[in-house]
Amino acid sequence: MLQRLEHLLGIEDLTREQISFILDQAAPFQEFQKHPLKKLATLRGKTVALAFFENSTRTRISFATAAARLGADTMNLQAESSSLKKGESLLDTIRTLEAMRPDGIVIRHSSSGAPQLIADRLGMPVVNAGDGTHEHPTQALLDALTIRDRKGKLDGLNLTILGDILHSRVARSNIFLLSKFGVNITLCGPTMWVPRGLESLAPNVRRVSRIEDALKTADAIIVLRVQTERLHEPAIATEEYILGYQLTPARLKLARPGALVLHPGPMIRGLEIDAAVADGPQSCVLDQVTNGLAIRMALLYHLVGGAAVEAPPAKEKPKDSTKD
Ligand code: NCD
Repeated sequence: MLQRLEHLLGIEDLTREQISFILDQAAPFQEFQKHPLKKLATLRGKTVALAFFENSTRTRISFATAAARLGADTMNLQAESSSLKKGESLLDTIRTLEAMRPDGIVIRHSSSGAPQLIADRLGMPVVNAGDGTHEHPTQALLDALTIRDRKGKLDGLNLTILGDILHSRVARSNIFLLSKFGVNITLCGPTMWVPRGLESLAPNVRRVSRIEDALKTADAIIVLRVQTERLHEPAIATEEYILGYQLTPARLKLARPGALVLHPGPMIRGLEIDAAVADGPQSCVLDQVTNGLAIRMALLYHLVGGAAVEAPPAKEKPKDSTKD
């Protein structure tokens, strides 16, 4: 039996069945994005708190839009304008939000484990929208949905992830997810960002140092954003990164014909990815954004809407009214 999800804190502890369930639930919401009228009443009367303690544009807008299209209201907290600047602790801020009685909370935080901490203390569904270098589960779900749609399956595919794997929550969540589905995963990037040991994160993961070797036989490629603050000499300079690891049209030709190119965004064209690849026919970047809405709608529907299903049964009818 499928175990009902209470929170979405990461991919690592989910079963393949739970993941397939979310991906399947997203299908009707993918169709829904094409409708001229994009508003359901499913979560009418519910409130989703969006607590983003780290800068975010697309993920925050995606969750806010997903909630709005389900008919929910949102409460927005942005770190810049919040009392956190005045030294309030994370738990105090979250408890203040809780006192306004939302029905679920979506959190992004620069500390790995912050969503778990909150889930342990609050009595409402918590969705991790990215925590430190730990996980970004909705990104991995939308990536898997995009690949599954385009390739018709996940099992047996070869996926290459390029860039700073060590610091990437996107890479970690994708590795956990795709490995559960029998995808062969190749990690490639500068040695300091793809250190020995990463291959033991999950089954079917290997590290390869030359990009040419990493791309050979790839059915899909995830290009990670380069965090420019981490690019510096003598470790690695920008030019060196471009020469060694940028996904160019010539390099893309080494992969299997029709190999998919994914990027979680924001993309830095000319650094980790050539503009011709980013805008080319193999790029799935905009599909990823649309699929992100479908995944987040499916999740909110399941986690926040689920409360109604589990609500105490309606009061029993008074005895004398039960007569036929
Ligand atoms: C990613 C993130 O914030 O982890 N972006 C996103 O959610 N769209 C990847 C990144 O910023 O590099």
